[in-house]
Amino acid sequence: MAHGEALIRCRDVHKVYGDGTATVTALGGVDLTVTAGEFIALLGRSGSGKSTLIHLIGGLDQPTSGEIRVEGRSLGELDDSALTLYRRHTVGLVFQFFNLIPTMTVLENVLFPSVLDRRLPRTEARERAAALLEAVGLAERQSTTPDRLSGGQQQRVALARAWINRPTIVLADEPTGNLDSTTEQEILELLGRLARDEGTTILMATHSPEAMAVASRVVHLQDGRLADEAASC
Ligand SMILES: Nc1ncnc2c1ncn2[C@@H]1O[C@H](COP(=O)(O)OP(=O)(O)OP(=O)(O)O)[C@@H](O)[C@H]1O
Ligand SMILES: [Mg+2]
Repeated sequence: MAHGEALIRCRDVHKVYGDGTATVTALGGVDLTVTAGEFIALLGRSGSGKSTLIHLIGGLDQPTSGEIRVEGRSLGELDDSALTLYRRHTVGLVFQFFNLIPTMTVLENVLFPSVLDRRLPRTEARERAAALLEAVGLAERQSTTPDRLSGGQQQRVALARAWINRPTIVLADEPTGNLDSTTEQEILELLGRLARDEGTTILMATHSPEAMAVASRVVHLQDGRLADEAASC
């Protein structure tokens, strides 16, 4: 998809958790359009619905009502296998606590999504993983295990892993929430560089004011709704 086109469209998205007796409205009607090539920082207080929105766009959960379209397809209309493919091909995920597999080496962690996906032949996948590890400055640490790396280095591995399958969108949920401020800056810059080099669109939930400097747009969530009128469509 060319830069400048609508990539993600959320229309009146609601998410209500609970069983009828005790319910929580995490999202109360979100309208958001994300254009290909944008780097969006999603800001909001704890509990404002940032992770919920990221999970819905990532196809990890479904809205209670409303519609999410990505590349023109409505996620609610995808069957299980199409949704699995969507999660593998279209989306890359980065988490606050890295979520690396401790028993795998750095290289194996980066390769893991490509092993599940099986689109890339093994040699190509290895070459791409090596190139991504080089890009994040960890070419020398391929054979080590995550427990021997610092938090910032573990997040670099997670970035390489998020990009291995050439995702259209990277969804990052507080990727610097567990890092000191110098490391935070490095990770934010890396996210920006990977997005530019790979042509990826980014939606990043964050509490960090630093994020505003790297993002192309800042969107505020307040009690499950977008606070910034200019950000909604
Ligand atoms: N699985 C769940 N079951 C019930 N309630 C939930 C669930 N997940 C989230 N919530 C509630 O939905 C609301 C939004 O939560 P969400 O995790 O999206 O917020 P957030 O903006 O990511 O917060 P934080 O900055 O603390 O990560 C909160 O009130 C939360 O308690
Ligand atoms: Mg959250």
